[in-house]
Amino acid sequence: MKVLVATEKPFAAAAVEGIKKEVEAAGNELALLEKYTDKAQLLDAVKDADAMIIRSDKVDAEVLEAAKNLKIVVRAGAGYDNIDLAAATANNVVAENTPGQNSNAVAELVFGLLVYTVRNFYNGKAGSELKDKKIGILAFGNVGRNVARVAKGFGMDVYAFDAFCPADVIEAAGVHAAKSQNELFQTCDIVSLHIPATPETIKSINYATVNQMPKGGILINTARKEVINEPELIKLLAEREDLKYITDIKPDADEDFKKFEGRYFSTPKKMGAQTAEANVNAGIAAAKQINAFFKDGCTKFKVNK
Ligand code: 3PG
Repeated sequence: MKVLVATEKPFAAAAVEGIKKEVEAAGNELALLEKYTDKAQLLDAVKDADAMIIRSDKVDAEVLEAAKNLKIVVRAGAGYDNIDLAAATANNVVAENTPGQNSNAVAELVFGLLVYTVRNFYNGKAGSELKDKKIGILAFGNVGRNVARVAKGFGMDVYAFDAFCPADVIEAAGVHAAKSQNELFQTCDIVSLHIPATPETIKSINYATVNQMPKGGILINTARKEVINEPELIKLLAEREDLKYITDIKPDADEDFKKFEGRYFSTPKKMGAQTAEANVNAGIAAAKQINAFFKDGCTKFKVNK
């Protein structure tokens, strides 16, 4: 079987090495397509692949149709909004993710960005501290739970809301359960987004949502750019000079956001999961899932049900 690793943003070398070992130990062959710049390269590479490991790489109907031998695609990471699930199902391809494998890396970046922000992007002026501030975690999944753990280390007052996670589970983790998303925004000095991009969440973080934040509020996004209603957030930032927007996913309207100097920051490339540890965890988990699929038909992490 040919296992293709197709990553426009490559894994750390140690992760590729680990994936190769796993794939070859199962008697399969590894093919590598890294840093491709053109979809044609991907369409060509998938032609004879039986399995694929990807990151945020787009696997749409055209890719799935070009991949005549493909049986399984594993997104080494959490969010699988880059895979056309209906097209995967139509082409008899199992789509999987590797939940939890890169979540600590994303959570640590949240705090790297927050310290940078509250210290005024290290411009020399007196900033503020995270201790005793209220942080609101929107969605209490793997990343959200890691954010809560680290936030407690900073001495923050931690709140969370998750439409799919009961309040008692949140409270059992030593976190205040907000009754609603609105209450989270109304209560917290900082709101950290960890919702996936779904039809329900796309553009859901809008003017009305963020305008509920107290004076000096910071919105931090290490989830997906699609959940933000960009024109409405730009309008709000223009009206409320106390608010800040910090993101690990460059918005489409990056140039417009850049006008809010000192109140906006975006990493040049999505960096949340870009650590050797996260790459190794997610990459090797993906390779193991592919091996288990070919060996026993295991589809434990299937997302196109
Ligand atoms: C994820 O969904 O796992 C993260 O957003 C990481 O994405 P990346 O692998 O493209 O860095």
